[in-house]
Amino acid sequence: KALGDMPGPSVASFAWDLFAKRGLSRLHELQLEGVRRYGPVWKASFGPILTVHVADPALIEQVLRQEGQHPMRSDLSSWKDYRRLRGHHCGLLTSEGEEWQSVRSLLGKHMLRPKAVEAYDQTLNSVVEDLIAKLRLRRSSEGLVTDIASEFYRFGLEGVSSVLFESRIGCLDETVPEETERFIQSINTMFVMTLLTMAMPRWMHQLFPKPWNVFCQCWDYMFDFAKGHIDQRMAAEAEKVARGEKVEGRYLTYFLSQTDLPMKTVYSNVTELLLAGVDTISSTLSWSLYELSRHRAVQASLREEVLSVLGGRRVPTAADVAQMPLLKATVKEVLRLYPVIPANARVIAERDIQVGGYLIPKNTLITLCHFATSRDPAVFPQPDRFQPQRWLSREQSHHPYASVPFGVGKRSCIGRRIAELELYLAVARILMEFDIKPDPEGISVKPMTRTLLVPENVINLQFTER
Ligand code: HEM
Repeated sequence: KALGDMPGPSVASFAWDLFAKRGLSRLHELQLEGVRRYGPVWKASFGPILTVHVADPALIEQVLRQEGQHPMRSDLSSWKDYRRLRGHHCGLLTSEGEEWQSVRSLLGKHMLRPKAVEAYDQTLNSVVEDLIAKLRLRRSSEGLVTDIASEFYRFGLEGVSSVLFESRIGCLDETVPEETERFIQSINTMFVMTLLTMAMPRWMHQLFPKPWNVFCQCWDYMFDFAKGHIDQRMAAEAEKVARGEKVEGRYLTYFLSQTDLPMKTVYSNVTELLLAGVDTISSTLSWSLYELSRHRAVQASLREEVLSVLGGRRVPTAADVAQMPLLKATVKEVLRLYPVIPANARVIAERDIQVGGYLIPKNTLITLCHFATSRDPAVFPQPDRFQPQRWLSREQSHHPYASVPFGVGKRSCIGRRIAELELYLAVARILMEFDIKPDPEGISVKPMTRTLLVPENVINLQFTER
């Protein structure tokens, strides 16, 4: 069958859903509606872009198995437009082809190999230590910490900075540096503007320039922030060399700068890695504690697991968390319910491909509906329930592409192992220090799309000292 035979909403009705019915922040729910109305494959026009939605694990597998040598996420991104406009290079998130491959191979050695990642546990533990102290500082007399995500944003930024620069930037200090707050604010606003700028045809940017201008200002700030930190770090190294001292960095910026990559490439990669490590960690940690506070039995079992592996020690290592199956299952379950990237995409430029009986012409944008597959009752019984045990049960097996929060294959998340280690160390440590309960006056919180999937309302939790 041809693209013309594919079902889907008309341009006008989809635009109405997006703009008039707050659809941009409900894009993840529109995936579920799409499956209900049209089945596992449908087409829709997202502003000027025609995209084929695929919402079935086996069909997502079909797409990803045909993605070719140098997979491309999206060709139409406003992120790339910004870089072209300012003459910046692209980082791993936005580069393509050979340019992407060379940096991917280099960083993969330091970010994907288990041994290389384990070596970051002490660095990350010192950030977790500061997070615990900050939570203590932020608690009211009843133990309530309001808006936990705001603290976890800073934790995410401090964590990723520590592996990028091997130094601390003070996000968890009592007084947070203003530039840090502005960096986090820039990420948030940039994500809101991403969807808006992509849904608007380019000619509309002239007519309504605000979204595009704000989007560019946010990126300008992020690039400046990263460059400032890199230059500072490189200057410190140069001074050491001048004093005749040996320089032996164990941090990602160092590895990047030791190659013959142009500095512009180092700047763009560090900017994109900083950006990738903030909301992803913050949202996943927020949802983890939110769900554990509402599932006290799971919380108790998980604490028991942590205590029994540690046998009297207070600080877990990478080797310890590797022996905690319930901890891993908890994070998996959180990412199934709240996949930070609710929809991913691919553009296959080399050839036409077949998916679900349709011939999809090359260069079509294909949206992979991960939120829909990970909430599919046919794959995950009682899909809206938080049940980490489902990942441990031998009876239940799931299609391997049904919940793929980090993506699969060559272009999958390069920060996956660092992110998992950071989350495991933080959750384990928090549970050892505190009993987590919901805010007695709290409401149930739903996710919303802001390019990424984030909590719609603030999450307040009670942290009772253990
Ligand atoms: C819970 C945490 C995280 C989740 C769920 C997540 C998820 C993802 C997903 C779904 C992708 C796209 C994969 C694809 O297209 O197949 C991705 C790409 C990427 N992520 Fe993550 N991520 C997380 C944390 C991080 C962290 C902490 C970093 C940095 C240290 C990071 C760096 C990146 C980069 C650089 C890419 C682009 C890789 C490429 O195109 O080669 N991520 N991530």
